[in-house]
Amino acid sequence: MSLLPIRVFPDPVLTTPTTEVTEIDGALAALCDSMIETMYDAPGVGLAANQIGVGQRFFVYDAGEGPRVVINPRIVETSGEWEYDEGCLSVPGMGWPITRPGTVHLVGVDLEGRGLDVVATELEARIFLHETDHLDGHLLLDRLDEDERREALRELRGRRLRLGRRAD
Ligand code: NI
Repeated sequence: MSLLPIRVFPDPVLTTPTTEVTEIDGALAALCDSMIETMYDAPGVGLAANQIGVGQRFFVYDAGEGPRVVINPRIVETSGEWEYDEGCLSVPGMGWPITRPGTVHLVGVDLEGRGLDVVATELEARIFLHETDHLDGHLLLDRLDEDERREALRELRGRRLRLGRRAD
């Protein structure tokens, strides 16, 4: 296992929709182990494949009950509302209170190829929404209102300029 570099905004891999996983094998299992290690090291509660530069539809997470892997996830139903201070390892150091559905019904497949069918609430539901957004090519910046988004993009642009100067 090894730590993987996490891609950050505006890396285009983060805004490119991922493709379905067609083969579950030892290489995928090993990659998921490294992603779980990377997620804990960050630290974060979820990590989508395209955040480490792999354009395939799977994510890892831990909502407090140990690490899990979800392959080819689909959200089939949502209900209710829940506000949570949401951040993202690909937009480091920023966070916003965001209201989204409080209950999420997710289907997918695990690393053994068995079907997953989970109805989640609160933090686990939020992770499912956030990670499937990633796999669809969306960042939480897309979930902000217009003013918040403009301010966030200005801050991120400023950071890139400062980083750019340091690199020169
Ligand atoms: Ni994220």
